[in-house]
Amino acid sequence: MLTKNIEKALNNQIKIEAESSQIYLAMACWAEVKGLEGVAGFMYKQSDEEREHMLKLVRFVNERGGHAQISALKAPNVTFNSFKEMFEKLFEHEVFVSESINELVHITLQEKDYSTHNFLQWYVSEQIEEEAMARTILDKINMIGNDKGGLYLFDRDIQQLTVSSASSTSPE
Ligand code: FEO
Repeated sequence: MLTKNIEKALNNQIKIEAESSQIYLAMACWAEVKGLEGVAGFMYKQSDEEREHMLKLVRFVNERGGHAQISALKAPNVTFNSFKEMFEKLFEHEVFVSESINELVHITLQEKDYSTHNFLQWYVSEQIEEEAMARTILDKINMIGNDKGGLYLFDRDIQQLTVSSASSTSPE
């Protein structure tokens, strides 16, 4: 059984994951209308993964005697000055999500809720991978600079880059 405090904190994370999904969906749309098909595909996939992160939390809350709250979401940014700026925002957002997960883990220890603590370890690992991937992408973008050929290759190659852990290690 979840304590009220944990339930509230998990519901807050549900909202954050749902907003993440919307943020990346908006990025996918921006990339798609700019003709960056590869980047768009990558962002659509990221958006789907965030929805999975959200659903995993939703089911956990409901199964543990809580009530998952589906709430109104903050509208995401829909335009960007450059694709570099867009990926910088993705990285910043993942750092924010990691901080939020860490805070959640901290609360479970305070409340001595070891099963939720255990459940959250998947998210802790996932965030390490997501941040690492975002950093790798930013390194590539910095190498490309303003080289149009480089951008073409980047758009082609990014489709191979995914956070595979989300689908391969998901404990569903
Ligand atoms: Fe679900 Fe990208 O954090």
